[in-house]
Amino acid sequence: MGASRYLPPLFSVAPMMEWTDNHYRTLARLISKHAWLYTEMLAAETIVYQQGNLDKFLGYSPEQHPIVLQIGGSKLENLAKATELANAYNYDEINFNCGCPSPKVAGHGCFGVRLMLDPKFVGEAMSVIAANTNVPVSVKCRIGVDDHDSFNELCDFIYKVSSLSPTRHFIIHSRKALLNGISPADNRRIPPLKYEFYYALLRDFPDLTFTINGGINSVVEANAALREGAHGVMVGRAAYHYPWQTLGHVDTAIYGAPSSGITRREILQRYQEYGDSVLGKDGNNRPNIREVAKPLLNLFYSEPGNGLWKRKADSAFMHCKTMKSFFEETLVAIPDSVLDAPIAGGVPSGREDLFANVHDLLPPQYHAREEEALYA
Ligand SMILES: Cc1cc2nc3c(=O)[nH]c(=O)nc-3n(C[C@H](O)[C@H](O)[C@H](O)COP(=O)(O)O)c2cc1C
Repeated sequence: MGASRYLPPLFSVAPMMEWTDNHYRTLARLISKHAWLYTEMLAAETIVYQQGNLDKFLGYSPEQHPIVLQIGGSKLENLAKATELANAYNYDEINFNCGCPSPKVAGHGCFGVRLMLDPKFVGEAMSVIAANTNVPVSVKCRIGVDDHDSFNELCDFIYKVSSLSPTRHFIIHSRKALLNGISPADNRRIPPLKYEFYYALLRDFPDLTFTINGGINSVVEANAALREGAHGVMVGRAAYHYPWQTLGHVDTAIYGAPSSGITRREILQRYQEYGDSVLGKDGNNRPNIREVAKPLLNLFYSEPGNGLWKRKADSAFMHCKTMKSFFEETLVAIPDSVLDAPIAGGVPSGREDLFANVHDLLPPQYHAREEEALYA
């Protein structure tokens, strides 16, 4: 349904708790028209128990399409109800979190990446989610958990979930998760990336769609992944820390669209309207200026005046009551030449050869042991 109205998810911005909120997504959409945007993970329980307050959790402006809702959970009835409640918000896809190693999530019953150890449940969960929506459903997972890290085990997971449910799209964070108590941040850094597992999935499941994720830091690297055959690329931290340098080139370098020519001054003018319309909307002065301006703090990364602008922002957070006054007070730190430079010019450099040898490293081909795999 919805998804077919948009260019395909060649490039998507990863779900990131406390980062990819409405404020960040508003900024991201001002910079790139075509990138697919994922929400932060929302627990099914939150949706079910906050039925009177759903706009706060599920609402977004129509400009944010194409947008995917990521939900997490381990109770089928709540996943069903949450999906049904989310229908009214017209997300373009519903994604199920099977990759989050946070103890807050992983210790909360069987939730997040632990679900990879129970593919039958994930198959059931995905069937329930799919039965309650008419948009496509997808799974985001890792390549393994602790010692369950062989290519065969990953394939068993994909095989079971796709056989037991209508899931046809998997997003593969190409490192395993360690559940030994290391922090979520270390779990995104310490386990090595194994892109060869991702490319072997493309080879062994030709009827499914796979998006690659993990450690891809620029559009140059995203294009390198696509050249090697990736169906789509998901970028997380780089899209947050360097929004202008990454998202600024997505429409032209990934989608081949003409440059919008938009400048950061224009983006901030539009963001100001957005910011002033949402400040204090939730009551008790929330969201406040600091929350609304947070994603902007990376907009001038590595540009002249960036340090000064951040210091000015820090002090402006104390007393500014409107985005207008916040910008008046802080933007004097940034030279006009930076504010008025359109997205254009060369794409920032990246590791062109990131995937160069990946096809030499592919693990042996997977052969589903059908009965055994499905009913084990
Ligand atoms: C602050 C933060 C929060 C995250 N929250 C989520 C989440 O809610 N759901 C999820 O599936 N992954 C989450 N992730 C993982 C990212 O979606 C992504 O898989 C990971 O950062 C690897 O991609 P990258 O190397 O491009 O950042 C989070 C990552 C970060 C940095």
